[in-house]
Amino acid sequence: MALKITVIGTGYLGATHAAAMAELGFEVLGLDVVPEKIEMLGRGEVPMFEPGLEDLLRKHVAGIEGSTGRLRFTMDWAEVAEFGDVHFVCVNTPQKHGEYACDMSYVDAAVESLAKHLSRPCLVVGKSTVPVGSADRLAARLLELAPGGAEVELAWNPEFLREGFAVQDTLHPDRIVVGVRSERAEKLLREVYATPVAAGSPFVVTDFPTAELVKTSANSFLATKISFINAMAEVCEAAGGDVAKLAEAIGHDDRIGKKFLRAGIGFGGGCLPKDIRAFMARAGELGADQALTFLREIDSINMRQRGQMVELAREALGGGPFLGKRVAVLGATFKPDSDDVRDSPALNVAGQIHLQGGQVTVYDPKGMTNARRLFPTLGYADTAIEAVRGADVVLHLTEWREFRELDPRELGEVAATRLILDGRNALDPELWRGAGWTYRAMGRPTA
Ligand code: UDX
Repeated sequence: MALKITVIGTGYLGATHAAAMAELGFEVLGLDVVPEKIEMLGRGEVPMFEPGLEDLLRKHVAGIEGSTGRLRFTMDWAEVAEFGDVHFVCVNTPQKHGEYACDMSYVDAAVESLAKHLSRPCLVVGKSTVPVGSADRLAARLLELAPGGAEVELAWNPEFLREGFAVQDTLHPDRIVVGVRSERAEKLLREVYATPVAAGSPFVVTDFPTAELVKTSANSFLATKISFINAMAEVCEAAGGDVAKLAEAIGHDDRIGKKFLRAGIGFGGGCLPKDIRAFMARAGELGADQALTFLREIDSINMRQRGQMVELAREALGGGPFLGKRVAVLGATFKPDSDDVRDSPALNVAGQIHLQGGQVTVYDPKGMTNARRLFPTLGYADTAIEAVRGADVVLHLTEWREFRELDPRELGEVAATRLILDGRNALDPELWRGAGWTYRAMGRPTA
C-alpha cells in the first residue's frame, strides 16, 4: 500500500512540500496551527506568492473540481498521527529576538504535539533548518513521549528549495540528503523520493549531524560567494574597476562558477542571514567558534552593502541630507518572484532613506501587501511609472523582470531627474544611458 504522508507547518516550505508529495502520488494531510491558513489552503488558495504553487495545489486539494483529491488540510494532531506513515516537520526556525541563535520553539512544539498521539509505527522527518545536534535531542524526545515507543523513529532530511523556484526545486531537487539511524528509515525515505531519484536526483545517506550541517554549510557557502563579490565591488569602486566584468571573467573558471556572483545590496530573506548567524551561535556552543569567525565578516560585508547604497544615493543627489528629496524605489521583496519581505535589503534601504527625511515611494510587483504591513509609513505607488513620477533619483533594489523590461524613455518623461542607481547590477547600463539617464551601480565605473 502506498505510503501516507503528513506535512506539519504550511509556510513556503510546508505548503510546497505537501503539494509536491501529492503530485508524486501520495495521499497527503497537511497541518497548521493557524486556522486562516488551513481554510485558504483547503480552498486551493496559497497564502503567499510562489510561482506554480497554486496550480499544483488546485490539482490535488480534495473538494476542488477535477482534482485528484489526494491533498487535505487539518488542525487536528490526533488525525495527523493516525493518518501518517511518514510525518514531515516543516515549521520555521526564525532568529531569536536580539540574539544570533535560532528559535527552536516551533519545531519543539510541533514534535511534542505530534509525539503524544503517535501510537503506531511511523517515521518523523525533520526538514526545518536547525542547529546541529537538534535531531539527536528530538529523537530522544520522541522516544520519551510517543506511546508507540521505538516504532516511532526520527530522520533528518534538510530542504534546499529557493523561494521563487520552490515547486521546481521540490519536484526536481539537486540532491536529497537524509540523516538516518536505521535501514528502515532509509528504506521509507527511498520510497518517498523514488520518483525524483529515478529522474536523476542524487540520494545522499548520512548521519544526523552531517545531514543538519549540509544545510547550514551550503547556505554559508552561498552567503560567502555573495559577500565575496560584494567585497570585490568595494575594491572595484576604489580602483575604478568593473565588478560585473570581473564576476563574468572569474566565473568562467568552473571551480568558481558564474552563479551567486551578482554584486549589489546583498542577501536577505528568511534563510541566509539568520542561518549564518545561528550557525555561528551553535559553533560557539560547541567550542568551534574559531572555525566560523569568517562568517561574522560575511554578515558584516552584507549589512554594509545596504548602508553603501544609501550613501551612493546621497552622493548622487549632491551630498547632504535627504530632506525634501523624492526617491523612487523599485522593489521591496528580498528577491524577485516572491512576495517575501523578510529582512529585505530593498526595504531596509528604502527605510533608511525615509528615516533620514527622504520622500520615498516604493513599488513592487508582488510585495506591496507585505511591505505595507511591515513598513506602513513609507510611500507606495501602484505602478513603477507612478513611483518614478517626480523623482529626483530612482533606486532599482529588487531585480524583477518587470523592471528590466521598463522603457527608460517613458520613465524619463515623468522623472524630475534622469538618475538611476542599480542596486542589483541587473539593468542594461547602455539602454538607460542611451535614453539620457545617468546610470550608477555599485562597483562599476560611472560612465
Ligand atoms: C536560500 C538558498 O538558496 C536555498 O538553497 C535555501 O534552501 C534557502 O535559502 P532563498 O532564501 O530563496 O534560498 O534565496 P536565494 O535565491 O538564495 O537568494 C538569497 C539572497 O541573495 C537574495 O536576497 C538575493 O537577491 C541575494 N543574491 C543572490 C545576491 O545578492 N547575489 C547573487 O548573486 C545571488
